[in-house]
Amino acid sequence: MPLEGITLDRLLSTILNNVLNCFEYYRGVAYLWDKEKENLVCHGTGGLSEESEKIIRTKPLNVNRHDCIEIRAAQSSTYTYIEDPTNGPNLTKIDLKISHQHGGRGSLLFVPLRSKGETFGILGVERYPTQVESYPGQFEITEKNIRSLMLFVNHASIAIENARLYAQNARKINYLVRLQEIYRELNVIMDMDQLTEDILDYALSLSQASSGAIWCCDPGTRRAHLRLLRGYPSSQRTDIRLSLDQHPFKEVCHEQRLALIPELTKCAYSLPVSPLKGSTILIPITYEDQTAAILQLDHRDSSIFDETATEVLKIYASQVGKLIENVKLYKRLLSERRFIDNVMNSAGVGILITDAKGKILSINPKIEEIFVTKSSEVIGKPADVIFSGDQRAIFHIIRETMRKKKDTEKEVNFVQKEDELILKVNSFVVFDGDKRFSGVATLIQDVTETKRLSESLRRMEKMAAIGTMAAGVAHELRNPLSGIFTTIQTLTKELACTGEQKLEMDAVLEEVDRMETLIQEILRFSKPLPLTISKGDINAVLKKCVAALQDKIKAKRIRVLCEAQDETAYLRADMDKIHQVFLNLLVNAIEASEEGGTVEIHSRSIPFSNNGRPKGIEIQVTDHGVGIPPDNLSKIFDPFFTTKNYGTGLGLTICAKIIEEHNGEIIVKSENGRGSVFTIRLRK
Ligand SMILES: Nc1ncnc2c1ncn2[C@@H]1O[C@H](COP(=O)(O)OP(=O)(O)OP(=O)(O)O)[C@@H](O)[C@H]1O
Ligand SMILES: [Mg+2]
Repeated sequence: MPLEGITLDRLLSTILNNVLNCFEYYRGVAYLWDKEKENLVCHGTGGLSEESEKIIRTKPLNVNRHDCIEIRAAQSSTYTYIEDPTNGPNLTKIDLKISHQHGGRGSLLFVPLRSKGETFGILGVERYPTQVESYPGQFEITEKNIRSLMLFVNHASIAIENARLYAQNARKINYLVRLQEIYRELNVIMDMDQLTEDILDYALSLSQASSGAIWCCDPGTRRAHLRLLRGYPSSQRTDIRLSLDQHPFKEVCHEQRLALIPELTKCAYSLPVSPLKGSTILIPITYEDQTAAILQLDHRDSSIFDETATEVLKIYASQVGKLIENVKLYKRLLSERRFIDNVMNSAGVGILITDAKGKILSINPKIEEIFVTKSSEVIGKPADVIFSGDQRAIFHIIRETMRKKKDTEKEVNFVQKEDELILKVNSFVVFDGDKRFSGVATLIQDVTETKRLSESLRRMEKMAAIGTMAAGVAHELRNPLSGIFTTIQTLTKELACTGEQKLEMDAVLEEVDRMETLIQEILRFSKPLPLTISKGDINAVLKKCVAALQDKIKAKRIRVLCEAQDETAYLRADMDKIHQVFLNLLVNAIEASEEGGTVEIHSRSIPFSNNGRPKGIEIQVTDHGVGIPPDNLSKIFDPFFTTKNYGTGLGLTICAKIIEEHNGEIIVKSENGRGSVFTIRLRK
């Protein structure tokens, strides 16, 4: 309140001094009404002794207590003239006392200060009778003098009223400016504890209260608990709860009314936390139409909680209520946002969100992993920045979803770091609350493993079914076949076949023998394979396979390239069966190659699968031969599928079975006419 009084008092003193000089008065005083307290308060003096000035300034005159000329003059709407205030029938004791305090008084003239038909103060001047000799004819205040002063004061009233309003408003303006500053400072606080502390501290500095507290209200239990205290002795208890159904908290909480207790010593109840003397104000802080907290401020002098201060504190409370609402909202949004982030981060599927224009709003870590990208590099850019090469098919899906405003689901194959991935892409159209298209959410799931698993499951089921049937047939064929074999042998001997006949008989025996071998193969394949696990070097196994096939390799002049990442690559497996696998694969590769062709064998360490942790070994057998037509690709692992005249079609079936029993993987990539790559992955 730095502006209060200064401008007004200075103005009144200046006016008074001018009046004294121009109209030749001895002393002068200006009083203004304090309507609330019904006091006449001195705001300006002229020509007074220091002692008189002190008395007049510190002792306001009260309507009820002081029956004196000043009060009567201020209550009348016209001037008051008292020729001799020290002697006369209409004078009261107080008048005489005042005259005495000022060392006697001369003729007095009081003129009302009026604005809009209301008297807001008086201006009084004095002409001293002892001056009679020095200024003959001047000791009396004439009618002309009165008219002149009235005229002057009427004009001055406007200026005084303006200054008074300005002084009053200046205080309010000061408060409001301060409120704005405080609001700005509180507005950036997002922590509830910090905000609560600052709310109380700023309330204390704003109101100049000496102590204060914040009570948090719980409408459920109808209780408030003491949250924070300032300016109380450290011995003050803090674990206080109080009922919200008791006066004066009841009115503050339920009716959301401000409660002012002007004199604590005189009230019938005691507040749970309050100074012994002085006054207290309780202000509701509301949030979502409920009283969230009660702000308590105390001061020894109740006059600090005047109308203006109360009004300002009300505005302050409503502002901080909004701030509390904001912080709660912010916290809720933050936790919702965190929850969504957690969902995005922990989802096993890739999530890509684009806005209505196809710009990336967010991607989750799974997308970063699948497409080897970083969220910070792509946010705000068009969705196609993530996808290159075959992956662009995904962008087309998103674009189609945007264009048709219809959910889309598709599978996309693409190669990444030599791995062929199968991705299931689901794009959903997102609408806002007003049913306006606002973007697309795309879920991308790596289904490579699942697909492979279901493919191998399908293969195993097929193998099992055919195996059971084949085993039955083989079993039934075995006895007649051995009968045929023995009969032919006996016949050859008994008939003493020679020449052409002997050759034919031998050919039959040879075919029967081949059938027997086939039956054995079928029976072996149809039973579960018992594995004999030992530690072995896969590179040594590969070399052994190549050595065992030297005849075939030489016969077709095949160049075999063996390339191993490490000299030795140990793993735990049934090494004989693994040997059988590579033998079969190499035989197929040689058979598929042209004369003089090349067969490559590569081995390297891998983390086993795209997402798997365990270490493994990957071996690739590559040929540049005939390749496998796409239609046959899904059949080559089926039992008895062969395109060769003398093939049994069991080679790859057995390979797949062995690899599966080792929990490994067998993957084929082939291009018709250009060659094939068989990839085997085994755990170490
Ligand atoms: N490297 C390859 N290049 C081209 N085709 C192949 C290759 N490997 C296998 N195939 C195709 O897969 C079929 C099945 O192979 P699989 O090894 O199971 O049987 P097979 O070689 O025909 O006979 P066998 O039982 O004697 O091995 C082959 O007949 C051939 O059509
Ligand atoms: Mg084969």
